[in-house]
Amino acid sequence: MQDQVKCYNWLSRQFHWLMVPLILCLFVLGLFMTELPVSELKLTLYAWHKWIGITVLALVVFRLAWRFVSFPPKSEGPQVPAFIHLLAKVGHIGLYLLLIVIPLIGWLRSSTAGFEIVLFEVLPLPNLMSKDEAFSDVLALLHKLGAFALLFLLIGHIGAVVLHHKVWQDRILQKMAPSFVHMGLLAGALLAGIGLIVYSTVINPPQAAPELAEIQQQDKPGVFQTTKSAHTQWVVDQKTSKLEFTATQKSSPTTGVFKSLLLNRLKFDPDAPAKAKVEVIVDVASLSLGTQMIEQTLLSSSWFDVQAHQTAKFYAEAFESLGANKYRLNGTLTIKAISKPLTVDLLIIKSNDEKIKKETIKATGKAIMSRTAYGIGQGEWASTQVLDDEVTLTIDIHAIKQ
Ligand code: HEM
Repeated sequence: MQDQVKCYNWLSRQFHWLMVPLILCLFVLGLFMTELPVSELKLTLYAWHKWIGITVLALVVFRLAWRFVSFPPKSEGPQVPAFIHLLAKVGHIGLYLLLIVIPLIGWLRSSTAGFEIVLFEVLPLPNLMSKDEAFSDVLALLHKLGAFALLFLLIGHIGAVVLHHKVWQDRILQKMAPSFVHMGLLAGALLAGIGLIVYSTVINPPQAAPELAEIQQQDKPGVFQTTKSAHTQWVVDQKTSKLEFTATQKSSPTTGVFKSLLLNRLKFDPDAPAKAKVEVIVDVASLSLGTQMIEQTLLSSSWFDVQAHQTAKFYAEAFESLGANKYRLNGTLTIKAISKPLTVDLLIIKSNDEKIKKETIKATGKAIMSRTAYGIGQGEWASTQVLDDEVTLTIDIHAIKQ
């Protein structure tokens, strides 16, 4: 059967020539996007890099499956030495392996950095691992090393094709010849890469926030030397409590956390919710999101402006009972001295902890706020094209009465 096959079949050629411009785009995007300061362009390029990378992974899996059921053409021309034959086999296996391993590492890097992938803003992909900042950095390095190993093999691959064509003249290039459409796609990818570099370095160069370097050099201002407030004896257990925020960029949700909270006031009797009062103060500088570059941007004046406003505050009184320990708090959220109403639905459990012989309170729930109402994200970020306006707050506070 193989003797009758003269060319690589139509599907094999499509797989091959579709992947060439896609891999080229991945290199241009990968090397370029990592150097940009945090901007809408950077987030958009990261999203496209991941989407194209996952597409390549899918294509490789199909291509491999197809490789096992289809017949490659019979080799023509002089017999190549056995070691060259072996080298070619190892090279091909290496290419397939890297084209599977690199995207998987990229996907893992994204998951461990806390960035969920929503393919082309349509298909949410599962997180392969939970957030782990240290491991994520190792994965970024492996991803980069893998990409350079791939580049090395690709250069070898092109060199081998030249040898086949010029020295052994065995018509291998003709058997995998690209069509005009393939050439057009390749030229398109090249032009898009050049266009991207010209646009973002000459036409619209990215501008780093001027105060970023200042923040980098300072310790994050810590307002919570003590976790105990003057008004209440309730102390927030900082180890088990957290205030998370989930922002969505290009349909992909990312969660960060404010690690340091203070229960400045608390008056709560489950039998008299109308007389309840709560004031929570958040240490804005305790923000953590996994990547230092993004954290510093978020603390800068265009975002939380932590140098001018170190804390954010939520105040509510007269809780509305919803039954089964659930309450609606119609309160006020103040960030950067801007106060806006915020409704928070909480499950509040007050109990006596027998082990520590103390009264404890646990409040869990969610609220949705608008970031633009507080000027969180100014300049290009005031638009909600890349980063959504709605931010989901997830509250999990555990406090112990002293
Ligand atoms: C064959 C497929 C891929 C190739 C050739 C490739 C190539 C690259 C390259 C060259 C870089 C720049 C490395 C650096 O300078 O630090 C990069 C970065 C990156 N890639 Fe890929 N990539 C591929 C697939 C993927 C996939 C599928 C994902 C995620 C789903 C992904 C996620 C990332 C991320 C998050 C970075 C930035 C790493 C960092 O933050 O330092 N990549 N990629």
